[in-house]
Amino acid sequence: MAAKSSPTHYGTVAVTIHWLSALFIVMLIGSGFRATDTEGSVAKAGILQLHVPLGVTILLLTAGRIGWW
Ligand code: HEM
Repeated sequence: MAAKSSPTHYGTVAVTIHWLSALFIVMLIGSGFRATDTEGSVAKAGILQLHVPLGVTILLLTAGRIGWW
């Protein structure tokens, strides 16, 4: 499989970004609901320390995907 997408096949870069984004979104939904359900502010901040960078990474991956396309 080529790195670049062709008219009939997605390339390795597009496929990798797609599945990484899917994984991160599942993790974001899980960590988002966990943060919402967590009482202590320290514990909540700990969960959001993963949640927020993941959310920003999704944004960067999406921008990168558009640029690569
Ligand atoms: C694709 C899905 C999601 C993305 C990209 C995302 C991204 C982000 C980002 C960038 C922040 C930091 C900005 C801020 O603090 O306002 C944030 C904060 C937060 N998110 Fe998410 N999030 C997602 C889903 C969820 C879900 C499903 C929940 C809960 C049900 C959730 C709960 C929270 C909470 C509680 C905060 C902290 C807000 C605060 O106290 O300032 N997130 N999220």
